Amino acid sequence: MATNRTFTMIKPDATAKNYIGGILKMINDAGFRIVGMKYTKLTKEQAGSFYEVHKERPFYGELVDYMSSGAIVAAILEKENAVADFRNLIGATDPTKAAEGTIRKIYAESIAANAVHGSDSDENAAIEGNFFFSSLERF
Ligand code: RTP
Ligand code: MG
Repeated sequence: MATNRTFTMIKPDATAKNYIGGILKMINDAGFRIVGMKYTKLTKEQAGSFYEVHKERPFYGELVDYMSSGAIVAAILEKENAVADFRNLIGATDPTKAAEGTIRKIYAESIAANAVHGSDSDENAAIEGNFFFSSLERF
């Protein structure tokens, strides 16, 4: 059964360029409610563990270095059909292939530095939310 929560990160390229406000506005305007939020920076070990599912992929080392290179915003978002609707809002992984009006089309600079993360399933949304937030830190 689909749950109504997903997990996102605003990635280091976007925080460095002062896109936090613009991205959060798009998220709110699309009807997502923020139920947990943290401005933080991942260690290399934490980034490696968060993206462990990709450890056999050729881009894993680059991804871990990049995701631990600067500040991020982690958030849990709530909306009906959250996971699928949020993937639609962020657009394709490669910003050159992302649809007009999506967050990645507007804010991402490359396939590696693509502005935002969005969970790909309800199961991963729960795992990823638990990675960053205790039960006392989400509302
Ligand atoms: P995300 O997990 O961050 O929301 O992105 P996604 O589902 O659209 O893409 P995924 O396949 O899960 O890949 C995770 C992140 O790895 C980086 N990547 N780099 N250099 C490359 O070819 C490449 N491919 C993927 C991206 O930052 C992608 O978001
Ligand atoms: Mg993914």
